[in-house]
Amino acid sequence: MAGTLRGIADLAIEGRRTFLRVDFNVPVASGKVTDPSRVLASLPTIRHAMERGAKLVLASHAGRPKGKPSPQFSLEPVGQLLAELLHCEVLLTDDCISDAAGKIVTDLRDGQVALLENLRFNPGEEKNDVAFARELAKLCDVYVNDAFGAAHRAHASVSALPQLIRERGVGFLMEREIAALERLRSSTVHPFVAVLGGAKVSDKIGVLEALIDRVDALLIGGAMANTFLAAQGLSMGKSLVEQDKLPLARSLMQRAAGRGVKLLLPTDLLVADSLDASAGRVVTTNLVPDAMMALDIGPRTVETFRHEILPAKALFWNGPLGLFERAPFAEGTFGVARAGADCAGFTVVGGGDSVAAVNQAGLASRYDHVSTGGGASLEFLEGRPMPGIEAVKS
Ligand code: 3PG
Repeated sequence: MAGTLRGIADLAIEGRRTFLRVDFNVPVASGKVTDPSRVLASLPTIRHAMERGAKLVLASHAGRPKGKPSPQFSLEPVGQLLAELLHCEVLLTDDCISDAAGKIVTDLRDGQVALLENLRFNPGEEKNDVAFARELAKLCDVYVNDAFGAAHRAHASVSALPQLIRERGVGFLMEREIAALERLRSSTVHPFVAVLGGAKVSDKIGVLEALIDRVDALLIGGAMANTFLAAQGLSMGKSLVEQDKLPLARSLMQRAAGRGVKLLLPTDLLVADSLDASAGRVVTTNLVPDAMMALDIGPRTVETFRHEILPAKALFWNGPLGLFERAPFAEGTFGVARAGADCAGFTVVGGGDSVAAVNQAGLASRYDHVSTGGGASLEFLEGRPMPGIEAVKS
């Protein structure tokens, strides 16, 4: 859909109820947010709105509570974190469209902040239900979407709602995400290198197909590499392999070869007998023992990948290269994180686990862009229309 996107700086938010859709879908343990990246990434927009005297109504989903209230997915821990970060009260509503929520929003003073309880506690959110969107619309004069991580979902608060509000646009985080990913999507610089990891080929089919037409090298690791290796006829022992995706893996490899794209798979792996093993053993990919499973890429593969990544003029990385949450199997992911940080080209990392790895290694500031979107950044690069971006265009 053609149309223009307005930024929050150009919207008349002063003294008006400004509905700011954010992505506060963050990990929580024992009532505390354990990775605040997405909340921190939204702060510039939130502060801007407060400073301009908007009556700010923050709204987000969290987890997948399936349309019912569930304390485990409450936004309360996020509300507490926000109050600490903003040094002000954040009024959490009991529900997103209750009378009590309406009263809190009506009573907001200029510059004050309310946080609606999890949108997905209402079944209308994921159904993109217009009646639910109309209820939300009663809480807003201006609509701003800064939830890049949810922009690929056609849900009520990102799709139906903005179409009901005339004064609408995007926040600073959304603007940054679109600019960085658009630069990558339309990149004509070479070499353009993509690193894809994660568990399943099936989660990445669209982006694999789109990237093969654009990149010079595609480096594949993580459990999804097992499916490609098995498609080459290698025996992968107890490793996770998607048997039904073997033909797809073969056709992707053929397509890459036909286009002169280097599709690199691991040449060595760290294997162990179970996911709980305390250490792994390095084997070449043609020697995976029957009773073992691949849990990380091996040191030779890390070196080969590094060698491809360093001269890249554009780099996109999504997905861990191994079972990175377990220390014995994290080195492949950290090795790629370091290579990306050392690359002088335009570097973008997206996806929860790869971003967590970059943060844990203290390397985030050495990437040009750390995307808050996992699935959203993949769909953007695929070139699919994003409901959360299309709906705010005017
Ligand atoms: C994400 O974490 O990728 C976004 O918040 C979207 O969440 P969802 O995959 O549950 O829709």
